[in-house]
Amino acid sequence: MSKNICVVGTGYVGLIAAVGLADFGNQVIAVDKNAGKIKMLQAGKSPIYEPGLSDYLQRNLEAGRLAFTTDTALAIRESDVVFIAVGTPEGFDGQPNMNHVTEVVHSIADNLDSYKVIVIKSTVPVGTNRRIEKYLKTRCSEQEFDVVSNPEFLREGSSVQDFFHPDRTVIGHSSERAKQVMFEVYRALNLISVPFLWCSLETAELIKYASNAFLATKITYINQMANLAEEVGADIHQVAGAMGMDGRISAKFLHPGPGYGGSCFPKDTKAIVATGDQYGVDMSLIREVVEANEKQKKRVVSRLEEKLDSLAGKTVAILGLAFKQRTDDVRESPSITIVNELIFRDAQVKAHDPEAMDNFKKHFPYIDYCENWEEAVKDAHVLIIATEWNEYRSLDPRKMRETMKGNLICDTRNLLDPRPFMDMGFDYMGTGRPFINSKQLSEIRTVV
Ligand code: UGA
Repeated sequence: MSKNICVVGTGYVGLIAAVGLADFGNQVIAVDKNAGKIKMLQAGKSPIYEPGLSDYLQRNLEAGRLAFTTDTALAIRESDVVFIAVGTPEGFDGQPNMNHVTEVVHSIADNLDSYKVIVIKSTVPVGTNRRIEKYLKTRCSEQEFDVVSNPEFLREGSSVQDFFHPDRTVIGHSSERAKQVMFEVYRALNLISVPFLWCSLETAELIKYASNAFLATKITYINQMANLAEEVGADIHQVAGAMGMDGRISAKFLHPGPGYGGSCFPKDTKAIVATGDQYGVDMSLIREVVEANEKQKKRVVSRLEEKLDSLAGKTVAILGLAFKQRTDDVRESPSITIVNELIFRDAQVKAHDPEAMDNFKKHFPYIDYCENWEEAVKDAHVLIIATEWNEYRSLDPRKMRETMKGNLICDTRNLLDPRPFMDMGFDYMGTGRPFINSKQLSEIRTVV
């Protein structure tokens, strides 16, 4: 039987969950304090760029299964299931800031007028679900309810696809009644044989952190191997490819680059370190990952500086500002560190991104934003490719040679085939590939 569901928070996690749960046939009302955002959503417009989202949004609005409001109290009262999907941004001590979650929990306590299942989708430190359960038991001792932990594993840029085809669904619960309700909520996933993991609240919370910290570690591992490959003359793609053929390792998340970014890995790795500290458990591996990732982001500009001696007065074009392709999100993007380091060294920055320029402008209003890559590379001494947008794969080396002042390409994502660029006289600096300058190339060819 379909459920009446309220989703509090219409960020990446909340909005996709609201649209997806409505598409499963549930009646969903999504809440946000931001009236402007709610107005946009009511008109069927998505406030974020996420492939496929607009179609699902409009379809479910038209079908009358999805509604948006700023009235949290009303939405809670009318629902059997309340999803909390508000942001938990990084706090001061490494642990996430829980203010938004706390506010919603208070609102639930004020409006708990019938049995409800309260589902925490926001990423929260281990122990939070149990604390919320205790708080509500004290505040609403007369009223029956259950707390469920249902962490999210969506990736920005493919979150719609991920919602409908997750690798697994994790549900931490402490009652059979709540389990039954969650089974109904996600019945559509069960029908397509998505594995469900039913566990305790604490286990579900830790699964989320352990997964993200592991992926961040895997990326950091390949980044450090890439740095070594540059020095010893190895090709990291062949190394990663061969490693990935070992089923125990798997080929995913072995792409070297300028360091991981986004709203999740940086925050979640710091949070699990803080939780370890709180319980006196050694989390030195993840602590090191956090530090190594910062170094990786800074390394992009220090490598350039090594090659050019000084960046002062140089014009640097940066292609890609989002923390990865297919998103307009720039939170913790390596491009923020790169641009900061460039400005600090007195370089002139010209930037382009297909989707993320408006968000990047909030951090750097005064750099030169360009309509397209052609405009960005014009008169540049150096080109940095920082995000793996597909459109940058087809950069035209001839056009670049005609308009650029310099000949250095720093391809942090190894997006390009370097050969046609080197044939046009460019020096190519990838990640985990030995630096090759065009002069060297012609020497190599002569020898061969
Ligand atoms: C990540 C997880 O992948 C999701 O499972 C999780 O739900 C989400 O965090 C979250 O906690 O909400 P997301 O941050 O959207 O998802 O992005 P990823 O695709 O994981 O990429 C994160 C960063 O790692 C990006 O900067 C990306 O460029 C970088 N990355 C990823 C690499 O440098 N190399 C890789 O091989 C993979």
